[in-house]
Amino acid sequence: MRTPAFGWRDYWRMLTSGRPWLPWRYFREAHAFDLRRGTDTHARVMKADFGAEPAGFAEGTFYMASWTSEIDWAFRETRALLGTDFDTFTFVDVGCGKGKAVLRWTELCARASSAQRIAGFDYHEPLVAVARRNHAKLFGAPGLITTAGAETFDFAPLGGRVLCYLYNPFGPGLMRRFLGRLSGLDAVVIYNNPAEDATLRELGFVACRTKDGGCPNAHTIIYANRRGSAN
Ligand SMILES: C[S@@+](CC[C@H](N)C(=O)[O-])C[C@H]1O[C@@H](n2cnc3c(N)ncnc32)[C@H](O)[C@@H]1O
Repeated sequence: MRTPAFGWRDYWRMLTSGRPWLPWRYFREAHAFDLRRGTDTHARVMKADFGAEPAGFAEGTFYMASWTSEIDWAFRETRALLGTDFDTFTFVDVGCGKGKAVLRWTELCARASSAQRIAGFDYHEPLVAVARRNHAKLFGAPGLITTAGAETFDFAPLGGRVLCYLYNPFGPGLMRRFLGRLSGLDAVVIYNNPAEDATLRELGFVACRTKDGGCPNAHTIIYANRRGSAN
């Protein structure tokens, strides 16, 4: 995997992208997370820089970290939605990349004295290696972060309740097949940049909470397959 250096040129690219607010927002929501913790999550990895191509590569998106405030919002809302059941669900970041959502979720659970089980997987091994390193740096161990694809990750050991976190990891065909794998489970799905919203609704997932912050990175919907709408 090639990891191009991140610097002022990237901020210039954001500034001249027609969204003058983007550099500040990016700093606050992505770069600052790493500066405070000494982790490596914020710099994106384009598909051309992945190197090896894992199975299903054509349907996957590139790596980019979730914004901190989206993860925080999703944490607050799923706790409110699930109430005392919250800890009975296992959080799984589907396409965890460098592990930002797993790291932040772990911090939030610790702060809230929640014992929820937290896992993540990505089909690109070099990204998983970075995620495990980040986790070890913050929490002293690499965490439940593994190399697996959306069609191969084994949900069975996690029990019947999963809280899947997706930041637009793949397109409609794979999304449909992945959601099919959740049909036997009590599943809640946090979907950031919900490009395949129509597919979830068509397959019976009900939107329970919505946040639309005016750009794809700040748009998140929480769905459930066995709970009524609570919007
Ligand atoms: C936009 S990034 C999201 C990273 C992380 N979830 C976050 O929120 O910070 C999408 C990730 O999905 C991964 N991905 C794409 N297709 C996948 C698949 N079929 N199986 C597992 N991971 C996949 C990519 O490698 C990439 O790291």
